[in-house]
Amino acid sequence: MKALLISDYGDPPRLADVAEPVPGDGEVPVQVSGAALNPLDLKMAAGHLREFFPVRFPYTLGTDIAGVVARAGHGWAAGDRVVARLDPRAGGALAELAAVPADQLVPAPASVPLSTAAGAATAAATAWQALTEVAAVRPGQRVLVQGAAGGVGSFAVQLAHRLGAHVIATASPAGLAIAEELGADEVIDYTAGPLAARVRGVDVVIDTVGGRAGEQALDVLVPGGLLVAVPAPPDAERAASRGVRAAFVFHESDAARLGTVVTLLDDGLRVLVDRRLPLADAAGGLTYLARGHAKGKIIVGT
Ligand SMILES: NC(=O)c1ccc[n+]([C@@H]2O[C@H](COP(=O)([O-])OP(=O)(O)OC[C@H]3O[C@@H](n4cnc5c(N)ncnc54)[C@H](OP(=O)(O)O)[C@@H]3O)[C@@H](O)[C@H]2O)c1
Repeated sequence: MKALLISDYGDPPRLADVAEPVPGDGEVPVQVSGAALNPLDLKMAAGHLREFFPVRFPYTLGTDIAGVVARAGHGWAAGDRVVARLDPRAGGALAELAAVPADQLVPAPASVPLSTAAGAATAAATAWQALTEVAAVRPGQRVLVQGAAGGVGSFAVQLAHRLGAHVIATASPAGLAIAEELGADEVIDYTAGPLAARVRGVDVVIDTVGGRAGEQALDVLVPGGLLVAVPAPPDAERAASRGVRAAFVFHESDAARLGTVVTLLDDGLRVLVDRRLPLADAAGGLTYLARGHAKGKIIVGT
């Protein structure tokens, strides 16, 4: 089968012919209909996360998968339509077939194309974790989403809106209308000047951008407000010195959480699709993602 792999950290990902994975204990084979790209794939390929997620080479990239169970086992029937978030240490989504732990599979939504559903696996689940588990957002709170048009941000805007928050979204001019469509009550063009001049009184910031954007976000929080940092652990001391709190969201695969967000796809939660590519062009998709301006998810599959 074909797979997008690296033979060492720093290798450019390349499409190769490899043997089909042999399912181990507790695993079932899944024919991949779609895989979604994440910045995590870039970090894995570069070796930036080797301490947290060591891998064995050759390593097939990709964690987000939707497909069809190819052989019955562990409570799943051949032909079942499923979504899963693979352990980054194993990877394997950017391939024609994957061996997936049966307890990580959840039923695919009925109303969304199967390949598209893969887009929820990391991004929607991370947004859900940030909003409900880390920040425990309540109706009426003012929630600022930094990077509202991106993978995690596009879900965070929708989910914060569903939780009853007043949603403020930052995006570039090209992303402002997208953020409004997704449910933002206010949109801010991040290219037009310092954030604190445009918004104040925010209870929770979901920052999917990091760096300077994350620092600026500390200035817009109410006393005791919470910055939830998605790209990297925040500077908690700096936050404390300004009278606010900061926490990191560390997303780990969790079938129960994934099941929750996948169910919401049948209730109108949208996977914003930037583009669809065949597996043969997945490496180009990663190059595009690395530029940092994707609008929603890049789906590899038809
Ligand atoms: N902690 C975890 O467990 C976890 C889980 C998931 C993701 N992450 C990390 O979170 C980060 C975001 O992931 P993602 O999948 O959402 O990435 P993404 O899809 O590549 O998001 C890119 C978005 O960021 C926006 N952006 C860039 N600079 C901005 C700025 N200064 N202000 C506001 N928006 C800006 C871009 O909007 P424009 O095009 O409009 O500029 C683009 O839409 C990555 O570092 C990823 O590795 C961490």
